[in-house]
Amino acid sequence: MRDTELALTVLRDPAFHGGMSTFFGDMLPSRTAQVALGRAVRNLMRAHLPAYRQCAAEKAAGLGPVSRWPDAGPVLVYRCTADVLLHPGAPPPLRQQLAQAVAAGLTARQPSMRQRARAEVLRPRLLAAITGEVRSRRTRGPGNEEPRDVMDAVIGTVPGELTDRTVADLYLLLFQSIVGNIGYAVAWALLLACLHHPSGPTWPWPADWVVREAARHRPFVWMVGRPAPHPLEFGGRPFAAGTILSVSPYLLHHDPHRWDRPKLFRPERWDEPGGQGPYLPFSTGPFTCAGAAVAHSLTTEALTALARDARLTVGGGDARPLVSGSVLPRPFTLRRTPLKTPSATLTKGGERT
Ligand code: HEM
Repeated sequence: MRDTELALTVLRDPAFHGGMSTFFGDMLPSRTAQVALGRAVRNLMRAHLPAYRQCAAEKAAGLGPVSRWPDAGPVLVYRCTADVLLHPGAPPPLRQQLAQAVAAGLTARQPSMRQRARAEVLRPRLLAAITGEVRSRRTRGPGNEEPRDVMDAVIGTVPGELTDRTVADLYLLLFQSIVGNIGYAVAWALLLACLHHPSGPTWPWPADWVVREAARHRPFVWMVGRPAPHPLEFGGRPFAAGTILSVSPYLLHHDPHRWDRPKLFRPERWDEPGGQGPYLPFSTGPFTCAGAAVAHSLTTEALTALARDARLTVGGGDARPLVSGSVLPRPFTLRRTPLKTPSATLTKGGERT
């Protein structure tokens, strides 16, 4: 759907919102099970926010003066979520494999064949190792304690009849949503803010606006699609059952009739009353991303940590998207120079300290 009105009609239609979420494919047997899993993982990630905030500050400082992006995005997010993704007492080889997979780019569909091959070659061995850990935890049975990590949350929430392999697939799907989606969202926010404010020691916008505007200008998920559950008609055009109806957040976010100068990256638009058009970086309706609010916080915290007490400049990058499975930034380098007098620092809420 290119036309905004038609896209919004489709998005508001109950028929488009019936049935199951396509995010989980056919891995779960019911919508109730899908919702329960999304909530369990979202709650765990939300509880991890304070630890993540502290870790992001350390890891941002540890990036060194020059880092290579967008790859550094998922790596940074992984380092700050590793213990909640797989608790520190889990088998070290599996934790190492996860770290390797992130470094190789397995958290998003890579744009070039060579990059994809490098990442995908790790998948079978990684899935076998995750399946082994799932099997051993399920054999031990549930403890009384709260979930120690995302794997416990997945095992504790999904129906018991699922195979270990399906549970492993679900775990990896959520792992990628957390590390990849947030990591690349951080990379976009960083790149766009630096390109549009190359000179000053700090950006003139709150991190919250930067993250919102980056997700408008370059939404990581550029297309959401669902099969028509039965024959439908939209805008006078018939669609057979099973036709994939796709709505593009990217196109909706760039409609000049709905947004003021949509081609411009303008974080200040988030402070303009009525200055926002249809905004769906996390989709919309009943299948909205279960982790939307926490994902926004995790992205904003990472950006805040990177910008704190430092002058940021980028080299070699531009704002053109690389459309693969999602919308990735092109490679760029980040130069992070600590400020001698860290007086005017960007905080998450935008206040200057
Ligand atoms: C910047 C980060 C993220 C972005 C841009 C994003 C985007 C999206 C989008 C667009 C969908 C809808 C997919 C579709 O209908 O085809 C979705 C679904 C989902 N996301 Fe996210 N996501 C992000 C982070 C996360 C995180 C951190 C979690 C877990 C805590 C998460 C969990 C989910 C779940 C469970 C669904 C399926 C919801 C349902 O249908 O019940 N996402 N996400």
